[in-house]
Amino acid sequence: MELEQIKHFLHGGDYNPDQWLDNPEVLEDDIKLMKQAGVNVVTLGVFSWTSLEPEEGVYTFEWLDDIMDKLYENGIYVILATPSGARPPWMARKYPEVMRTGEDRVRMLYGGRENHCESSEVWRAKVKEIDEKLGERYAKHPALIMWHLSNEMYGRCYCDKCAANFRIWLQKKYGTIEQLNKQYWSAFWSHKYTSFDEIEPPSKHGEMQMHGLVIDYHRFYSDLQISFVEMEKEAVKKYNPDIPVTTNMFHLNCGINYDKLAKSLDVMSWDSYPRWHCQKDKSTEWENAVGAGFTFDYVRAFNQRPFYLMESVPSVPSQFEFCKVKRPKLHMLSAMQTLAHGADSVQYFQWRKSNGAIEKFHGSVIDHNGSADTRVFRDVCEVGAKLQELSYMKGTDTKAEVAVIYDYDNIQALNAQVGLRKDKSFWEKLSQIHYEALLKSYVNVDVISADADFSQYKVITAPGLYMFKPQTAEKIRRFVEAGGSFVLTYYSGLVNENDLCFSGTLANPVFAPYSLNDVFGIKVKETDGLCDDEYNEIAYNGQSYKALTCCDLLEVEDATSLAEYSHDFYAGMSAVTKKRFGKGNAYYVTCHTENDFLRALYEDVLEDAGVSKIIDVDYVKDVMVRERGGHIFVMNFSTEERVIKVHDEDIVLGGYGYEIL
Ligand code: GLA
Ligand code: ZN
Repeated sequence: MELEQIKHFLHGGDYNPDQWLDNPEVLEDDIKLMKQAGVNVVTLGVFSWTSLEPEEGVYTFEWLDDIMDKLYENGIYVILATPSGARPPWMARKYPEVMRTGEDRVRMLYGGRENHCESSEVWRAKVKEIDEKLGERYAKHPALIMWHLSNEMYGRCYCDKCAANFRIWLQKKYGTIEQLNKQYWSAFWSHKYTSFDEIEPPSKHGEMQMHGLVIDYHRFYSDLQISFVEMEKEAVKKYNPDIPVTTNMFHLNCGINYDKLAKSLDVMSWDSYPRWHCQKDKSTEWENAVGAGFTFDYVRAFNQRPFYLMESVPSVPSQFEFCKVKRPKLHMLSAMQTLAHGADSVQYFQWRKSNGAIEKFHGSVIDHNGSADTRVFRDVCEVGAKLQELSYMKGTDTKAEVAVIYDYDNIQALNAQVGLRKDKSFWEKLSQIHYEALLKSYVNVDVISADADFSQYKVITAPGLYMFKPQTAEKIRRFVEAGGSFVLTYYSGLVNENDLCFSGTLANPVFAPYSLNDVFGIKVKETDGLCDDEYNEIAYNGQSYKALTCCDLLEVEDATSLAEYSHDFYAGMSAVTKKRFGKGNAYYVTCHTENDFLRALYEDVLEDAGVSKIIDVDYVKDVMVRERGGHIFVMNFSTEERVIKVHDEDIVLGGYGYEIL
């Protein structure tokens, strides 16, 4: 769904006028300043419940009528949020069941946000009621361009109602308790259930060892959250089905399978908070940009359409270990990066800083001083003007021939399983490491789930694809057969969708990657986990690279060895293989490596697969290159000058400089 009303990129952000209703002068200033900053959209109503229904059944929409009208008169459109991100105190007091119960089975007291029980009938009914009221009143308001359901949904409830719903969900999935026992391998530690009623949601002071159960609870709760989104969507669309809905996604592992959630939304939107300039984890701006880019390419790839940057910080965030202001020029550069990855908007959290409570020091366009004479305001105005100038790009495509798999189910399972290494953050980062290596080859990259359509890609890489869901192996086989290049790494194809290991017998032995030994021409016989300060080495094209963390030991059946190990008892054993299968190529990388090896490997894989590069030059340190709708963005994420050759012309980029060609 495109937002037809607005010809330009969207520029604006979260706006909470309900916090200043007693100060009309501030509200007048807001409109003046928004116009000056080229703001054409604001998100209203996030967490506004007490301002809309201060007492049960007593509604006060007048302030919102007023603001909506005023904004519209001034050429500013509205994304209207449902207030279900937080609830009023009266509701929690009268209906305690709306509050979430923790994994420790203790129900929360009133407070905070996004901590509701999604099984509570009262909570559902209350949200439906207020959503329908909003729909009835505003669905045809000319300012309204989109609904924003709730806000950054995350987490899970563990109350009795949720447990009961979980049991129903399990019954639907497995049919019989015998089938569940089989998939959970429950003879282990005497866990055989005789009925679904015996099943408790996982808990640190209960069950965490049955990994099938743990990941099923995550799936169940994700489904419950999505059913809640569906309920809200239906409620707001009741009076005008044409207004699109979104919800702001924000964390790859927030408890909701975004791949599934995306199917319930008309428009994808993302909140992005890179830790710009934060020295704590030694992250450079390049690394921050790679992290942001990874999430943008993930959200956009869901439906291969532009997405909306719903929130970003215009100056300094308040929730990090160290909170640094954006250095000059970085605000513009990060905005341009967002467009380069296919966003149709640059929006902020927040327009004006609240005077009290936890986010009073969170960056905003307008500070407590109320002044327009600030560096941040000037930066925002500059971005506003630039977005206007680039309007011709709105709605254009960002096409990629290369994809990296980041699969939610796979990550849930890797986080639950125990083996190879204790530190789980490793798995979370893995796809991003491969993504970075590919970006440095200056190609556009999509980030997709294992369930996505593979057919548009020439190269797909699946780092640590531990879980093979029912169709996974077959999809990989068909993709390679038809001419694709597939790169699979260590720790792949080990378990089914319930985290149950694939196993064999004397007559029919089974080796990883499950059911794809013929495609890759290899069998994984052992997997060695290395300590953090240990490494092996592999030689590739006459160059030596470090092998870290994990080393699969292979038996090569009919693949070409591209690299071999140099040390330990597996010296000389193949570390990287390639096999021609059907019309394509299947690569297997046995070990974790530093980025320079992946760079070298992917250069060869891309060339072999005939992937066209955006520009055919060597990676220039800290310079990102992306293509959107025929426009090439070159962006320098270092403070120093960089020079990059684009079609025979030397482009000089100052520190944090960019060009669009
Ligand atoms: C999120 C939320 C906002 C705000 C910001 C602060 O993105 O959606 O309401 O809390 O974080 O960074
Ligand atoms: Zn609950």
